[in-house]
Amino acid sequence: MRIDILTVLPELLESPFNHSIIQRAAQKGLVEIHLHNIRDYSPDKRHHRVDDYAFGGSAGMVMQIEPIFRAIEALKNEREYDEIIYTSPDGELFSQGIANQLSLQKNLLILCGHYKGIDQRIREHLITRELSIGDYVLTGGELAAAVMTDAIVRLLPGAMSDEQSALTDSFQDNLLAPPVYTRPSEFNGWKVPDILLSGHERNIAEWQLQQAIDRTKKLRPNLLSDDNE
Ligand code: ADE
Repeated sequence: MRIDILTVLPELLESPFNHSIIQRAAQKGLVEIHLHNIRDYSPDKRHHRVDDYAFGGSAGMVMQIEPIFRAIEALKNEREYDEIIYTSPDGELFSQGIANQLSLQKNLLILCGHYKGIDQRIREHLITRELSIGDYVLTGGELAAAVMTDAIVRLLPGAMSDEQSALTDSFQDNLLAPPVYTRPSEFNGWKVPDILLSGHERNIAEWQLQQAIDRTKKLRPNLLSDDNE
């Protein structure tokens, strides 16, 4: 899989992709992540300007069409993208389901928003999917792109040392994960539930499922309702 990210702040994204599972996935050749600075595509060769005032006089700067258009065209000339994603608080809410879908794709392009956003015509003509990571506003789309990339890349077969662990993550069956424990079995008088020490695999699996259901009912009942895909 290849993920290209268009941003005005590539430095912000270097560190998150150079650690842990993502870095290992890249080293294993499972993913290539390429950061591109939108300023490099600005027609303004002197100041590399990429934003301008909003028509109509509303507050804040807007990212201009041309640098983004040129960047996307240059990348599209190199390969076909399965999705051209724009990160924005007014996008569709990113979820485990969307991470699963996107992890099956070959080439993704993620455009990080900034300032007041991007010229609407880019969204209409070039973007195939708009995604938000939650109902709050970040200073830019970079952290949202990092969150999505992390959630996608860890799902690639071979990215995690124990592949089973992706299957037992929270949200994979619209359930939160059950609690986990490790040694010592007792600390400070705080005990690990007996069932987990019993060695009865089936009983343990039933207990874990029940815990997952109970936790989901209590903490995130919306995950169990029919309208949650
Ligand atoms: N850019 C700013 N806020 C965002 C959010 N919540 N999700 C995605 N991109 C964003």
